[in-house]
Amino acid sequence: MRSAGLSIRVPGDKSITQRALILGAMADGTSRIEGALRGADPLATGRALARLGVEIDGLGASEDQVVRIAGRGLRSWKSPKGILDLENSGTGVRLLAGALAAQPLTAVLAGDESLSRRPMDRITGPLREMGASIRYLGRPGVVPFQITGGDLSEIRHEGRVASAQVKSAILFAGVGAGVGVEVLEPRRSRDHSERIFEGMGVDVAEGEATGGWLVRMPEPPPRLSPLQMQVPGDFSSAAFFLAWAALVGCGDLFTVEAVGVNPTRTGLLPALARMGADIRVVGRRRTGGEAVGDLVVAGDSSVLGAVEVGGDEIPGMIDEVPILAVLAARAEGVSRISGAGELRVKESDRLAALATNLRRIGVRVEEFDDGLEIEGTDAPLTGPVETFHDHRIAMAFGVLGATPGCDIRIDGPGVADVSFPGFWDLLARVRTWWETVSDGTPRRGPGTRRPTSGMREPRPRARDTPDTRMPVVAAPTGCTVVAIDGSAGSGKSTTAAAVAGQLGYRHLDSGALYRAVTLGLLDADPGMVAGTVTPADLEALDIAIEWDDRAMAVRMRGARVPEEALRAARVTSEVSAVSALAVVREHLLQLQRAAAEGPGLVAEGRDMGTVVFPDAVVKIYLDAHPRERARRRILQRGESADAAEIEEEARRLEGRDARDSSRSLAPLVRAGDAVLLDTTHMDPMAQMEAVVGLVRAVEGSH
Ligand code: DC
Repeated sequence: MRSAGLSIRVPGDKSITQRALILGAMADGTSRIEGALRGADPLATGRALARLGVEIDGLGASEDQVVRIAGRGLRSWKSPKGILDLENSGTGVRLLAGALAAQPLTAVLAGDESLSRRPMDRITGPLREMGASIRYLGRPGVVPFQITGGDLSEIRHEGRVASAQVKSAILFAGVGAGVGVEVLEPRRSRDHSERIFEGMGVDVAEGEATGGWLVRMPEPPPRLSPLQMQVPGDFSSAAFFLAWAALVGCGDLFTVEAVGVNPTRTGLLPALARMGADIRVVGRRRTGGEAVGDLVVAGDSSVLGAVEVGGDEIPGMIDEVPILAVLAARAEGVSRISGAGELRVKESDRLAALATNLRRIGVRVEEFDDGLEIEGTDAPLTGPVETFHDHRIAMAFGVLGATPGCDIRIDGPGVADVSFPGFWDLLARVRTWWETVSDGTPRRGPGTRRPTSGMREPRPRARDTPDTRMPVVAAPTGCTVVAIDGSAGSGKSTTAAAVAGQLGYRHLDSGALYRAVTLGLLDADPGMVAGTVTPADLEALDIAIEWDDRAMAVRMRGARVPEEALRAARVTSEVSAVSALAVVREHLLQLQRAAAEGPGLVAEGRDMGTVVFPDAVVKIYLDAHPRERARRRILQRGESADAAEIEEEARRLEGRDARDSSRSLAPLVRAGDAVLLDTTHMDPMAQMEAVVGLVRAVEGSH
């Protein structure tokens, strides 16, 4: 049987890769990192560092290539051109903020929708206390925010949550600014930064103290030695395959090689042992200050038993709770997870995501503020699950779906790329191996029916990218273009007009052009069918923009079109269909680009940042809760907004957004480099200030 064994490797550790990239960028000399993770998170961090003038080589290549970072010293970063978009990476944004706190420059940090919900006060608080200046540009407490760094003072920080990101941000700020720092955490959190610092000549002392775990860096050195390191396999990625092996019961045939087994990360192993899954670490060794070993799923399979985890155990297995919950669904008895409230502010609200999905596939779950109670079952588990754009939720349910008796469909499996590119292919490979080796005869208890042939293999899907086939023409030099896109009623017009007024820029309302075309076509033929529109029909409308100082009006067939006519109900109901036509979009393209004249233009619409002005210096994507958008629309019309009206209008708006987002040409999508502003709780003044703040920050840093 031995010869039939399978050894796999998982990608490099995400936490370590992120830290190595940022610290390498602060070192004196070239760092060499082997085995760096090429997931979406470190790639976003790498792009942000490149915008700060750091030369990074090899990150775009495959994982067997060395990454070289040309560090030029602690405070050598340049003012970034544009916004630093950390996409989905909470570690990236928090650690980079720490490092930026010591750089004498201003930068704007932003991220995607899920990052825009994660709390930032826990790092901005101590960094402000040290002397960095931080301004939230949207909602307080979340990205985007602007940070201006420089000289900092010493700090002793006592955190309420055990967070390696908070600790690391403070350590990075202290090292950068050359000031001593102390962090007292209620419980010990992962210590990868401390391990990396050891290799760079920085003394960090740590140990038990009254009130928790104390980490001290009393005297940071004047320079950091470059790093030479091998990133171990990510334990959190390995955990998915260990769990799969425990579920199918593949005895001692299965090994995950060269995994980081830093004790602040392997809290899942004792919990698995209590469930009856014996996973052993063999061939222990050290690389780059970190413990590494091969993980073997030892012994023959046995039925998994329920488990209780909580309190002090949670920080050491914080990223493994999703896969543990999935194992609990297949264990005998009721499992309890407590003290895990922190999971509510991860890439998704992981407790809610787990409870929702487990229930959907037929598992009994109770959800508490800080945990879950899960009743294991050996009944078939089938149905669709939602990833909530969270890589670990996607992979945890992917593992369950790859075990006998389960047929689980996962929406958006591509999100696994954040930490584990190639996850689905590897999962398919180990399944095939096991089906061959076990000869279809599973060796263990619950859930070990023959594999269902019907399981749909989730395929990674490239992120939706807008169709930008239209020719790209840069705006005339000297004119600063601010692109504001977003859903209907998210506050685009009000914000764009106010920003234009404040900055003395022109305001382009591109929606008015699409409305004018729709109106003109309807006037020419009330029974007009959108699909039959020709370029000649559009020429005949003779649409032009008339600038009244900085505000625009639309002219059609030689006359100014009144605002009320553009907003008429028949126009609103047809405009989505008309604006989806390539012939219409092409017809209006040059007209919009020609508006970029004078000191600046605030262009508002659906595809300003993606198609019309892809080089805009600032791109904003506005969104708000559908009910709030509906309320605003109704008030705008001067009507009163009762609850039923709001519901109905919200449904109409969502319908129009769905049509605008799903069309193949220039769909309503957020440009990759657009800053997401959720305006649900923002008044027009705050929205204007946020955008003006961004423009000034980006312009000032050029
Ligand atoms: O912003 P608005 O409601 O006036 O826009 C009217 C319609 O025009 C909207 O449903 C989508 C379309 N539109 C577009 O396709 N591209 C733009 N740049 C602006 C508007």
